[in-house]
Amino acid sequence: MKKMFEPSSVGGLSLRNRFIRSATFEYVYDNENNTFADKLLPMYEKLASNGVAAIITGMVGVDENSRAASVMVKAYGSSFVPELAKVVAAVHVLGTKLIVQINHCGQKAGQIDGGGSLLGPCDTKNAQGSPVKGMNPEQIRSVAASFAETAVRCKEAGADAVQIHAAHGYLLSEFLNPYFNKRADEYGRGIEGRARIVFEVYDAVREAVGKDYPVWIKINSRDLTEPSITPEEFRWVCAELDKRGIDAIEVSGGAAVSPESASTPFIKKEEDEGFFGREALEVAETASASVISVCGYRTPAVIEQWLNKGKIDAISMCRPLISEPDLIGCWERGDMRKARCVSCSKCFTPELKCIPFGEKSENDKL
Ligand SMILES: Cc1cc2nc3c(=O)[nH]c(=O)nc-3n(C[C@H](O)[C@H](O)[C@H](O)COP(=O)(O)O)c2cc1C
Repeated sequence: MKKMFEPSSVGGLSLRNRFIRSATFEYVYDNENNTFADKLLPMYEKLASNGVAAIITGMVGVDENSRAASVMVKAYGSSFVPELAKVVAAVHVLGTKLIVQINHCGQKAGQIDGGGSLLGPCDTKNAQGSPVKGMNPEQIRSVAASFAETAVRCKEAGADAVQIHAAHGYLLSEFLNPYFNKRADEYGRGIEGRARIVFEVYDAVREAVGKDYPVWIKINSRDLTEPSITPEEFRWVCAELDKRGIDAIEVSGGAAVSPESASTPFIKKEEDEGFFGREALEVAETASASVISVCGYRTPAVIEQWLNKGKIDAISMCRPLISEPDLIGCWERGDMRKARCVSCSKCFTPELKCIPFGEKSENDKL
């Protein structure tokens, strides 16, 4: 029987328990000074000193056209490694591991520093009506190289692992999802084509960091669009990544192009917890890689049930830890109340961010 609070081995890392803070965009990048560490440190120190075993950073941008907004961390430029090294050191002192989520936002990029167009699988307009240019094979190779260079910089800074972001309707997820990917070439059509860029990115990263450095991925099991990746296609992609040596697969969902396809659904009842848990269990049945389940976990007893339904190794959480950064610490000390998070997702708007635990927030009225 697995327990929430027991040392575990997840994705090549020894963790003190089975709780991971899932990647959470932190709105911290200071473009004038190219810094982010001082803003991240208080958040991460609070999480790490309250029992979180590993923190996956908010997504960081691998190249000049990859960022969602100017406040998203640039993982290129000379300050990235020393800034990240400061964060890693502070988190390590508190016994927590740090994984950097590396991403290209594709047609959702809101900050195009390199000029040119938004990039995606096909010529189209994005949800905001901005033109998107379908990528040519050379651009695909260049993006794979940027992921690899970013991973090397994370390793240099002492991060414990990198996580390739292939979920939530960003570039890699756009290629996987037939809702976005209508290409007729070798990067489109069937799942072998649509997943090709993901494998090329993974292979480039693996080649660059070596076989012993942990490489994780976050991937959609269901896009919640019509059409979407199918369950068989999703399992096939995971099995291929597993064969290639991925260390951990975090199973998520939602292309995030409409309220219905949100990767942050409303969680109202205990039955909604583990929103993509069934798909995580299916992958875990055969994978050698560790499997992490994200989305909707709020109640300690429910979490322990999910951990014991099959071979899920760890649970990751986002919104409850914005609302209550000390939540895991409370649970560890035996205060097993349900998270107060009501999944309103107002935390996407920093000004509305949940105020810290113990005070009344607007969210409590929902
Ligand atoms: C404010 C906010 C920022 C997020 N940023 C990221 C991100 O940078 N990368 C990512 O993969 N997921 C991101 N997510 C999604 C979460 O990691 C997680 O998959 C989702 O919120 C469901 O888990 P939860 O129910 O525990 O919140 C974000 C979610 C929120 C609410």
